[in-house]
Amino acid sequence: MFHPQLDSFPTDFLWGSASAAYQVEGAWDADGKGPSVWDNFVKIPGTTFKSSNGQVAVDHYHRYQEDVALMAEQGLKAYRFSIAWSRIFPTGKGEINQVGLEFYSNLIDELLKHDIEPIVTIYHWDLPQALQDEYQGWESRQIIEDFTTYAKLLFDTYGDRVKYWVSLNEQNVFIMHGYMMGTHPPAVRDPKRMYAANHIANLANASVIKAFREGGYSGKIGPSFAFAPAYPLDCRPENILAYENISDMSAHFWMDVYAFGRYPRIMLKNLEKMGLLPEITESDLALLKEGKPDFMGLNYYQTMTVANNPLDGVGMSGEANYTGEKGSTQESGMPGLFKMVENPYLERTNWDWTIDHQGLRVALRRIASRYDLPVLITENGLGEFDTLETDGTVHDQGRIDYLQHHCLAIQEAISDGVEVMGYCTWSFTDLLSWLNGYQKRYGFVYVDRDETSEKELTRYKKDSFYWYQEVINSNGQSL
Ligand code: NOJ
Repeated sequence: MFHPQLDSFPTDFLWGSASAAYQVEGAWDADGKGPSVWDNFVKIPGTTFKSSNGQVAVDHYHRYQEDVALMAEQGLKAYRFSIAWSRIFPTGKGEINQVGLEFYSNLIDELLKHDIEPIVTIYHWDLPQALQDEYQGWESRQIIEDFTTYAKLLFDTYGDRVKYWVSLNEQNVFIMHGYMMGTHPPAVRDPKRMYAANHIANLANASVIKAFREGGYSGKIGPSFAFAPAYPLDCRPENILAYENISDMSAHFWMDVYAFGRYPRIMLKNLEKMGLLPEITESDLALLKEGKPDFMGLNYYQTMTVANNPLDGVGMSGEANYTGEKGSTQESGMPGLFKMVENPYLERTNWDWTIDHQGLRVALRRIASRYDLPVLITENGLGEFDTLETDGTVHDQGRIDYLQHHCLAIQEAISDGVEVMGYCTWSFTDLLSWLNGYQKRYGFVYVDRDETSEKELTRYKKDSFYWYQEVINSNGQSL
């Protein structure tokens, strides 16, 4: 459809799709790879849906050529994937595993052969277990050096071919789930430790970006942030204040550090009052200022709506599982600050996430207005149950509608003046959902994960595969 009032997508717009190592590769202990914290965490009973794990995942490690051929057939301009740190350094540092380095080198070459731009995520949650054992991973400042050494090796090895780098994926998610909710490794529930680990992660992120600049590598680098923009329930002043509170806590506290190299003052005061302020030195602040990104990576799935929450109101106990257990609509919040409420205008997915394409436009505009940075949409998509028909087709009209609306919201944001570099859907093939196994599917390509099936791991193109092919082919004109 032609939308005369909207700007066209730029001609170099990166129409892409995304994945993460642990969720697609499998081959969890092949060719010298060391274990990651996720390899071990999933072995603890009750941590994931039906004890699902990434030992095989969708076997991308062995089938990457087939997957890249599918990407080429669809016409993808970019593919975002992550590197498993423990495939490169089996114990997180020290000896390099050449076979691991070669795997990603081959993948990059395969992509480039088909004119697909690689977007490489340096860290997508799979910390080498050895670093967790040796010094408690993100809780030790030693990780800043080790993470930087690892990233520099990637820049040196692949920098001639990779132009786009994502430093940390969803720091807000792996830190909050890992250290406050206890639903991701290392399964800690301690806000003080959470804020301390978070500060170290900020320093590690800045250190890697600084190393990228100092090394004179060409290309662009930035973090990926899971941004769920907040709305106030209505114009009641107390609800506006609740909205200010959640915005500082869930957005500015994270993105201000990336973009400005400082924490928002209201949050510092708040943490101080609660006795949760981490140690922040002058040299830390200097490093944070040197870690400014070239773009903000945006992982967008949903918005949240908040209202006033009296001091004796609801607490975090009802907090939902980000990764998608049903039931996130139950009341949760922080007494005196905000509480989550239902948005009467929005529908929800089968995993209870709000569906809100306008929210993507809002997210893009908020980033552009506050940070004045270009945005690379590093994730967006619909997690659903999909059905493989006997003729090998998958009719995922719901996903097509979802993506169609979100793409139009991007075009609107571009027309508003936001510089959007590209759009990576989540995900290209179906893949392992961290906590929800293989039942929650996001891909354009269905992967048979039925262990009783003779065709296990076979790939099938869904209807959305062809829909996106047309979008890319027409540079968005078909939307
Ligand atoms: C964010 C994460 O980066 C990704 O790994 C995850 O699978 C999706 N969101 C969906 O939950």
